[in-house]
Amino acid sequence: MTRETFYITTPIYYPSGQLHIGNSYTTVAADAMARYHRLRGKDVYFLTGMDEHGQKIQQTAESEGMTPQAYVDKMAVGVKALWKILDISYDGFIRTTDAHHVASVQAIVQKLYDQGDIYKGVYEGLYCTPCESFWTPAQAPDHLCPDCGRELHKTDEDCYFFRLSHYQKPLEELFSSGTFVLPSSSANEMIRNFLEPGLDDLAITRTAFDWGIPAPFDPAHVVYVWVDALCNYITALGYPDEPELFNRYWPADVHLVGKDIIRFHSLIWPALLMALGVPVPKCIFSHGWLLFGGGKMSKSKGNIIDPIVLVDRYGVDAIRYFLLREVPFGSDGNFSNQALIERINSDLANDLGNLVSRTAAMVVKTFPNGIPDERLEEKIDVELDDLADKTLKIVDSHLEKLEFSLALEAIWALIGQCNKYIDLTTPWILARDEADHSRLAAVLYTLSDNLRRISVMISPFMTRTPALIRDRLGILETENVTWASAAKRDLYVANPNVYKGSAIFPRIDMEKELEALEEYTP
Ligand code: MSP
Repeated sequence: MTRETFYITTPIYYPSGQLHIGNSYTTVAADAMARYHRLRGKDVYFLTGMDEHGQKIQQTAESEGMTPQAYVDKMAVGVKALWKILDISYDGFIRTTDAHHVASVQAIVQKLYDQGDIYKGVYEGLYCTPCESFWTPAQAPDHLCPDCGRELHKTDEDCYFFRLSHYQKPLEELFSSGTFVLPSSSANEMIRNFLEPGLDDLAITRTAFDWGIPAPFDPAHVVYVWVDALCNYITALGYPDEPELFNRYWPADVHLVGKDIIRFHSLIWPALLMALGVPVPKCIFSHGWLLFGGGKMSKSKGNIIDPIVLVDRYGVDAIRYFLLREVPFGSDGNFSNQALIERINSDLANDLGNLVSRTAAMVVKTFPNGIPDERLEEKIDVELDDLADKTLKIVDSHLEKLEFSLALEAIWALIGQCNKYIDLTTPWILARDEADHSRLAAVLYTLSDNLRRISVMISPFMTRTPALIRDRLGILETENVTWASAAKRDLYVANPNVYKGSAIFPRIDMEKELEALEEYTP
């Protein structure tokens, strides 16, 4: 039987500077989705990569006294190292300078040219080099980029146009499904700002510089970097010449993108695919920005937070947890060191960390040979198991909609209930009854089994902690780690290998830490 597939992508990043916690946000979110669907047994393909052509990269390389190729090669090492630090489990990493991508993009634009979707003209208008985007004077009357606010410059060059306007009607129909672009506020913005005024044809080649893919029908032109970049989602799967992966995974289940680039993905990309006769992706999901001090964190503003420093200080799971828990996915949210430390202290050290240590410590102390089989179960134990069943269903329904923060909130409600269960069942008092430990055994078994289930539920989000929890409780790594196992009760196998160990998430002294962080904070 063939397994259901799940294809998820991140944007491919411009290596015009070091990647920051804002870019890491998209990638961690995509990684959580990929891990979730793998745990559910799907055949997952998770693609990320780098967008290496264009005027901005050429300028940056020149300013560093390097050739663009040497520059992007150097940056690719750093990007891959960052994804390793953040435990990003990508299946494919595309670079738009890869020979197969270059050849595929050439085949794509040649096909569009041959079938009459591309024609020659002159582009007179405005251009934002950092965003690599064209604007008309009507769209940007003050000559400032509507996306990033920086100054636009006038461009007047020979170019080839793609007949984007021909796809106005099919795009309107696509948007009418109501699920192509999510959240719907993003879809409405695209309809209002671009579809309703009517689409213009799109300049898809440039001649002002040469760091790009030469257009095969006129090699003095390079392919517009956004067309080059968008094609990565299919060229990475071998389109058009080696379509094995393409046939297996396309259309994509979801392209994850920041709201600043939804326009390219929701209008230009489906129109290009329609012109190629290729199905459009199932969904484009646009998330909000991480802000710092109220403004979008970005390389050019310099207000960036380095994820490597954070991982170094707090560990990868704390950072992944914070990114997905703090801000509802889809909205903008502020990043602050204080909020991060608060989350670590309350959710991780206090709630989850304490639950693990308390449970393990009590098991070790009272049942060093493992929790015995004689267990006296009570209603309160079953209620906790019921809540775990319910929690899993809630998590599933939120993750289907990429509502990471709500999924985590539900898991933390279960963790909170486990802590409350300890307070209510008072195992330290039960332990005093030396003649009969059957009730204590049931309480500690219920806690251990629910921690086993929690360790699975947090696995899409956290990459190290689940194994640490299982290790403390003596659960073999091979046992019970599919998503389905989190739905089952009483799979925990009592054993003598439980140990207390040191705190999984040590508490942080807020005041001292904020002071120490000043050095790294813009
Ligand atoms: N190269 C293009 C994407 C091409 S995809 C075919 C690009 N690159 S980028 O490096 O500038 O941005 C990549 C992604 O990072 C975008 O989705 C963008 O929204 C995201 N982010 C950049 N800064 C961010 C924040 N401060 N917060 C959240 N996401 C951020 O655009």
